[in-house]
Amino acid sequence: MPAAPSDGAPALHVESLDVTYGRALSALRSVSLTVPPGAVVALLGANGAGKTTLLRAVSGTLRLHRGAVTAGRVRYGDTVLDGRDPVAAVRAGVVQVPEGRRVFAGLTVDENLRAGGLGLNRRAPDQVREARERVFTLFPRLAERTRQAAGLLSGGEQQMLAIGRALMAAPRLLLLDEPSLGLAPMMVDRIAGVVREINAQGTAVLLVEQNAGMALSLAAHAYVLEVGEIGLSGSAAELARTDAVRRLYLGETTDAADGKGAA
Ligand SMILES: Nc1ncnc2c1ncn2[C@@H]1O[C@H](COP(=O)(O)OP(=O)(O)OP(=O)(O)O)[C@@H](O)[C@H]1O
Ligand SMILES: [Mg+2]
Repeated sequence: MPAAPSDGAPALHVESLDVTYGRALSALRSVSLTVPPGAVVALLGANGAGKTTLLRAVSGTLRLHRGAVTAGRVRYGDTVLDGRDPVAAVRAGVVQVPEGRRVFAGLTVDENLRAGGLGLNRRAPDQVREARERVFTLFPRLAERTRQAAGLLSGGEQQMLAIGRALMAAPRLLLLDEPSLGLAPMMVDRIAGVVREINAQGTAVLLVEQNAGMALSLAAHAYVLEVGEIGLSGSAAELARTDAVRRLYLGETTDAADGKGAA
């Protein structure tokens, strides 16, 4: 099994980042966050908090959405990523799986996977084959459906394909935007298992989720975005114990948290 080794992989540093859309809309204010090499870090927050915006700022896709970094810095090791394009991020080893599992519906599973390696021109064919085998080992269901149109896959299978397509670029850091959204609990468990496996193979993961239970079970460290600013951060275990996270993101009532929540 080919692994993307975390040995010698850099850390992601987001430093005091400000992002705006258009002229006026401030989406992120002074956001700082670190993803150490080989770690899983969770980013939680309500709708509109700015989670997707942060991933866009890292993956170089912000400009495609008329957004811009107006202050601060995104560094992956020595490579500055803010203000660069998606190809620069992919070359540095940083790949985003977009929200809403945007696969190319009219293309086959295989064609979607091939598209995932395109940022890296002139890769050796055996590297592409290796990456493809890694995807099929992680997602045997995709291996059975290589010629099926992606649009005909189930929601869970499309999420697998979206992740698989990102893995074709052999990322060292995978940016995952709400992979559990709209999936049945069993499929959420499968996706969680896959994230664990991808990480065990050496790929760091920045995991955006509204499913805090799932995210905190996978992550070592977590951040909570509140309307464009980091409200809370800490070890996943610590955050899972705070009343705010239990109430807002783990769906617990105050009663259930009684006597257990951190003061
Ligand atoms: N392309 C865009 N143009 C203008 N405003 C945008 C754009 N994309 C996002 N925003 C705004 O930026 C803010 C943060 O949005 P973002 O999509 O990052 O939130 P989110 O935390 O990912 O939310 P969700 O959980 O709903 O996906 C919101 O106020 C949103 O309306
Ligand atoms: Mg989002």
